[in-house]
Amino acid sequence: MQKWQVHEDFAKQVENFKALPALYRHALNELENKIDVIRTEWQVRDGFSPIEHVKSRIKEPKSIVQKMERKGHDFTLENMEQHIHDIAGMRIVCAFVKDIYRLVDHLCAREDIRVLEIKDYIAHPKPNGYQSLHLIVAIPLVLLEGTRWVKAEIQLRTLAMDFWASMEHILYYKFDKQLPPHVAEELKEAARAADELDQKMLRLRREILELSESEGS
Ligand code: GTP
Ligand code: MG
Repeated sequence: MQKWQVHEDFAKQVENFKALPALYRHALNELENKIDVIRTEWQVRDGFSPIEHVKSRIKEPKSIVQKMERKGHDFTLENMEQHIHDIAGMRIVCAFVKDIYRLVDHLCAREDIRVLEIKDYIAHPKPNGYQSLHLIVAIPLVLLEGTRWVKAEIQLRTLAMDFWASMEHILYYKFDKQLPPHVAEELKEAARAADELDQKMLRLRREILELSESEGS
C-alpha cells in the first residue's frame, strides 16, 4: 500500500473516532426526548407519571477500552460498535414494578425504537441479588448519509432496586477479590428486603386505589 494511502486511511479512522461520541450523544438525546413525551402523556392522561427519574450518560473512553479488553476484542471501531452496547446508557427509575413492564411493552411496540435484547433480572435476579430490567435498543438517527441505527442500553428499575444497586455499586461492584460469604449473604438479604418493600408499596397502592374508587361510587 502507498504511504499516502496509509496516512489517508488512518486520518479517516481518526475522523470516525472523533465523530462517534457525538453520534451516541445525539442518539441519547433522541431517546431522552421520546421518554420525555411518554412522561408528559402519562401525566396528562393518568394525573401522574410512573417514571420517577431518568439519568443518561456516555461511557468514558477509558471504560470502553477496559470493557473491550475484558471481552477480548481488538480495538477497532467495528468491534466497538458491534460488541459494546452501553456506550450510550440510560437509567429509568419507576415507582412500581408493574410500570416497568408497561413501559417495556410500549417501547417494544414502537416503530422508532428497535428492541434488540431484553435481560429481565427482575424475574430472574442475578446470584448476588441484583434486580433491574435491561434493554439493548437501537435508535434511528437521520444523518446526511442516511438513517443510522445507534445502540443504547436502557436499565429500568424501581426506586428500591435503584437504592440497592447504587449501594452495592459503592460497596463492591467490580471489586476484584472474593467477598466474605456473610457479607455476600447480607447483601442478598438486603436485595430481598428491597423486593419486599416494592411488593408492599404495590399492595398499598392497590388498596388506596380501591378505597378512592369505592368512595367515588
Ligand atoms: P457489563 O457488566 O457492563 O460488562 O455488561 P454485561 O454484558 O454483563 O451486561 P449486564 O446486563 O449484566 O450489565 C450491564 C450493566 O448493568 C452494568 O454495567 C451495571 O451498570 C449494571 N449491573 C449489572 N450487574 C450489576 C450488579 O450486580 N450490581 C450493580 N450495582 N450493577 C449491575
Ligand atoms: Mg455484567
